Amino acid sequence: MILVTGGAGYIGSHCVKSLMKKGYEVAVLDNLSRGHRDAVLTPHFFEGSIGDASLLSKIFSSSSKKISAVMHFSAWTYVGESVEKPAEYYQNNVAQTLALLTAMRDHGIKQFIFSSTCATYGDVQKIPITEDTPIGPLNPYGHSKRMVELILADFDRAYGMKHCIFRYFNAAGADPEGQLAERHDPETHLIPIVLQVASGTRSHVSIFGTDYPTPDGTCIRDYIHVNDLSDAHILGIEYLEAGKPSNIFNLGSETGFSVREVIKMCEQVTGKKVPVKEAARRAGDAPRLVADSTRAKTVLGWKTKLSDIQTIVKTAWASMKP
Ligand SMILES: NC(=O)c1ccc[n+]([C@@H]2O[C@H](COP(=O)([O-])OP(=O)(O)OC[C@H]3O[C@@H](n4cnc5c(N)ncnc54)[C@H](O)[C@@H]3O)[C@@H](O)[C@H]2O)c1
Repeated sequence: MILVTGGAGYIGSHCVKSLMKKGYEVAVLDNLSRGHRDAVLTPHFFEGSIGDASLLSKIFSSSSKKISAVMHFSAWTYVGESVEKPAEYYQNNVAQTLALLTAMRDHGIKQFIFSSTCATYGDVQKIPITEDTPIGPLNPYGHSKRMVELILADFDRAYGMKHCIFRYFNAAGADPEGQLAERHDPETHLIPIVLQVASGTRSHVSIFGTDYPTPDGTCIRDYIHVNDLSDAHILGIEYLEAGKPSNIFNLGSETGFSVREVIKMCEQVTGKKVPVKEAARRAGDAPRLVADSTRAKTVLGWKTKLSDIQTIVKTAWASMKP
């Protein structure tokens, strides 16, 4: 059985569905601090924190449902909040992850898949971004992810715990069957925000910076469909089950879209006009972040299927309809 932490959240819940479709037995551990109980599709749900040693001991000691691997999605994920509350972010994302990894070590569980982020790269000079692009997170959220990456390397060396670190670019889209959605509160991701405007629940979209060195002056990002991320996680489990070495993989579509291009696509898909307000640049926003995912494609055999921007927006829009 695979334990999915954060399986009540956006990406974790989609991955649980994909795992179950592939025939895996799945348990979810989530404290529902940011997730939704109704997004947990497996009957094996533990409500609690990844730092709760006695709960972890109970989960890992079960003889009927032996956990073979952990997929670790749980974290707090707001960059701005992490700048204001670094203590809480390091506690939740680093200290609690260390407790989880220590419990895994104590119970001999040796396969770990980690949701990291392109935010570990920081101020990038060269595009596309490969796994060898210099590291340099710009905020406590990015630091917390990088710290866990370093812990994982040490746990591999000392305890033989093998990992796949997945550095996601911008996760987007939703379950094409309409069962799951992206439901962050507050929402900070561009596509759901634009679609909230299209649906009338938000008045406008702010564009932060229109004078970047990009063709239309707005920032360019790489959007990857959440189901393609799920596929990569399943390939990651198969990779570790085959006894392969720990590795780091970028997960992106390798195509960049500007803020204005995303808004235009949302208008096209929804048939609604989306009012925008141009605002000043935000500190720390890089002009362009686009992945090179060659390693995931060649080593894991990963292929994106739903990550064209129109499909991403269409599935996100369909998931928002009542
Ligand atoms: N959404 C993106 O574009 C993106 C990009 C890069 C990386 N990531 C990473 O992917 C992962 C999932 O992101 P998401 O967008 O699905 O976030 P999310 O907030 O929707 O899901 C995170 C889940 O973790 C749970 N959680 C948080 N702290 C916990 C704890 N201490 N114990 C138990 N449960 C806890 C929350 O309740 C929530 O259900 C995160 O680790 C995030 O950093 C996301």
